[in-house]
Amino acid sequence: MRDGRDPAGMPSERAAAVTPFAAMDVLERAADRADVIHMEVGEPDFAPPAAATEAAVDALRAGDDDYTTSRGRRSLRDAISGYYAAEYGVSVPAERIVVTPGSSPALLTVLLATVDPGSAVVLSDPHYACYPNFVRLADGVVRTVGLAPDAGFQPAVSDYDAAIGDDTAAMLLNSPGNPTGAVIDGESLSALVALADRTDTAVVSDEIYHGLAFDAAAHSVLEYTDDAFVIDGVSKRYGMTGWRLGWVVCPRRYVDTINAIAQNTLICAPSFVQAGAEAAIRHGTDWLDGVRADYRTRRDILCAAAERWGFDPGYTPAGAYYMLLDVSRLGAAPAVADALLETAGVAVTPGPDFGANATEYVRASFAVSTDAVREAVARIDAVLASATTLT
Ligand SMILES: Cc1ncc(COP(=O)(O)O)c(C=O)c1O
Repeated sequence: MRDGRDPAGMPSERAAAVTPFAAMDVLERAADRADVIHMEVGEPDFAPPAAATEAAVDALRAGDDDYTTSRGRRSLRDAISGYYAAEYGVSVPAERIVVTPGSSPALLTVLLATVDPGSAVVLSDPHYACYPNFVRLADGVVRTVGLAPDAGFQPAVSDYDAAIGDDTAAMLLNSPGNPTGAVIDGESLSALVALADRTDTAVVSDEIYHGLAFDAAAHSVLEYTDDAFVIDGVSKRYGMTGWRLGWVVCPRRYVDTINAIAQNTLICAPSFVQAGAEAAIRHGTDWLDGVRADYRTRRDILCAAAERWGFDPGYTPAGAYYMLLDVSRLGAAPAVADALLETAGVAVTPGPDFGANATEYVRASFAVSTDAVREAVARIDAVLASATTLT
């Protein structure tokens, strides 16, 4: 008996604490309609770099369909290591990299390796909707630091300092950030790393939107320290969400622990996908220039519309492909999101999923095509022309 409950036949307390992912719930509801513009999920409309598809198909045809080592193929890890040298001028030996089936299992593995039951993990608020659930699955406790739109959703290092105590295992950073699209400046990142070092707190940096900063330089924590976990993958950068390929860069003393968890729970990332991911990393750099330019165009269209609608969130996203829209003048965010789906056929995610500081907002993803962004804006223009409230 736990808490007076008979556990037989019931989900564990850990599992029961996991909340649904609102973007996926909206996607399910939107699936009943044919003409919906899907701005609720972060699904890039771009086909991956052609070299990636060719390499994966070639690998499959050549019978490359067996287990690899849990760490991942050496040639892929060398390519990832080369990426860090080329992008950030830092040396990340392949030995510190463990490849995973998507970055999500990488994050879970890192939290399992760093968080003891009851230890705190410090997150920003707003934050990626799934983070608190990851922390709970690792039996950790969520502690949040508020970010504000008038500060461009930049972290104040003093707030992190106040949030970290003896019970704190890790700080989880995310830049460019979901759901804000904010890019943490180098000075703040370096100060956060110094704070973590001083307080013996693990740094876990989710850099899945790196390569997609169009208005600011996205810095990797690896520019400031070797003693950090970096979570990354090919999902967002190369439009390869369904391929399921991520990785974690580990501090040296953690590599064997992370690898042991991966050996037991993940076995390996799919072998032919590793071949495709390697080609994307080695040959996808020029391809990314066009993608970034398109995201900036879409961001600009949406920002101009947000101002017209009175949804201006008070900041401008500088990366990733998300924007928070302040819909408070029309009603509660979940009801506004429902109404936009019903009346305009535009799916967005209600803000509360992203933390207490996002309750007034809906999150719109501009990973859909530029034409789809224009069409969504035209539809919302039409709906708002005749409405003072949507709820
Ligand atoms: C901040 C953030 N981290 C991680 C992920 C998961 O990425 P992956 O497809 O690599 O599991 C997402 C997906 O939306 C995300 O927004």
